[in-house]
Amino acid sequence: MLEGRNILLIIGAGIAAYKSLELIRRLRERGVGVRCAMTDGATHFITPLSVAAISEHKVYQDLFSLTDESEMGHIRLSRESDLIVVAPATADLMARMAAGMADDLAATVLLATDKRVLLAPTMNVMMWNHAATQANVALLRQRGIVTVGPGSGDLACGEVGSGRMAEPPEIIAAIEYMLAPRPLEGASALVTSGPTYEPIDPVRFIGNRSSGKQGHAIAAALARAGARTTLVAGPTHEPDPAGVALVRIETANEMLAAVERLLPVDIAVCAAAVADWRVAAPANNKLKKGRNGAPTLSLVENPDILATIGRAGARRPRLVVGFAAETENVVANARAKLTKKGCDWVLANDVSPAQGTFGGDRNTIHLVHADGVEDWPTLTKAEVAARLVERVGRHLGRA
Ligand code: PMT
Repeated sequence: MLEGRNILLIIGAGIAAYKSLELIRRLRERGVGVRCAMTDGATHFITPLSVAAISEHKVYQDLFSLTDESEMGHIRLSRESDLIVVAPATADLMARMAAGMADDLAATVLLATDKRVLLAPTMNVMMWNHAATQANVALLRQRGIVTVGPGSGDLACGEVGSGRMAEPPEIIAAIEYMLAPRPLEGASALVTSGPTYEPIDPVRFIGNRSSGKQGHAIAAALARAGARTTLVAGPTHEPDPAGVALVRIETANEMLAAVERLLPVDIAVCAAAVADWRVAAPANNKLKKGRNGAPTLSLVENPDILATIGRAGARRPRLVVGFAAETENVVANARAKLTKKGCDWVLANDVSPAQGTFGGDRNTIHLVHADGVEDWPTLTKAEVAARLVERVGRHLGRA
């Protein structure tokens, strides 16, 4: 999908600049045209000669170079790109961007551009955590600039923590996300994902085996398609999907409250495995083993979040999609849920242990709607998400 696209890569002055050579190489392998601009500082870490050799283009460094300006010019440099990537994005460069400065070629191009910008920040952990850097990053994100990373781990300065530049494959995934066709631009979506945890006492809970893989993949695919997407997620180990606003919850009641705050939206997809029951009165202190034997847990029914969305009256989304997790009569039970919960579509999946749907990477979906059933082949959860989003686009007349 990147073939034939053009990227302007701005290389900032960080030790991670060496990774930008690998990034250029991988982009070139995908048929991407890469033009590069380097800050003065960046040339202390890697040479313009290496960058020019790998990108197969002249490297731009000087705002006041007569030849550069006559050949390309700092305005054209950004106009002729589909996307600007800043990697490494240093604390200094981001501060200058936030302040709207134009004191070198990199800052000037970033101020003069009408293109989307992706930053791959990298720095010492204290610099990253500094209130000034965090405020600058928040401001840049508010202006629509997208960030990838930084990751955590050993840093070049010898310290440990957040500050490592994202690896080239992660940066390329973010680039793909930013350059993907966006049929759902302007639409808003909410997705629920993962399990809920219902407390028994301060340390124990009732939960289930949902990993969040399916719901998170759907949120990522909706965001890639341009929908303003919020993911309401129970406790999972899944990475935060790029370009998605995340609301973390633990219980069904918290999930319902988050969802109600988010309505109205255009599209709702409920992939969460919400606990049907919670403990009526969770203990304030850890339950102890004792002479009275095992405690008796009294359960009460949780609110049905999908049914609440499906019957939200004027605030009901244009498209309400639920899941049905079944171990028998998969399609028949899904049909019943379609009506009972007021959905437009139900994605039925067999969650018998032999299928490996809970926690696994693949899923076999039957899309149930008022007019019938569509049986999908077994797909990866990312493919299920992409197919669903493509279907949503067609349904809303945007494909
Ligand atoms: O998370 P993974 O490991 O990737 O696994 C994916 C999945 C199996 C969890 C997912 O594909 C799935 O089937 N999600 C729905 C799980 C579920 O709770 O199904 P259900 O048949 O019990 O509920 C039907 C629908 O009502 C679901 O959309 C559910 O989100 C919703 N619901 C259920 C109960 C409740 N109190 N509130 C709800 O909103």
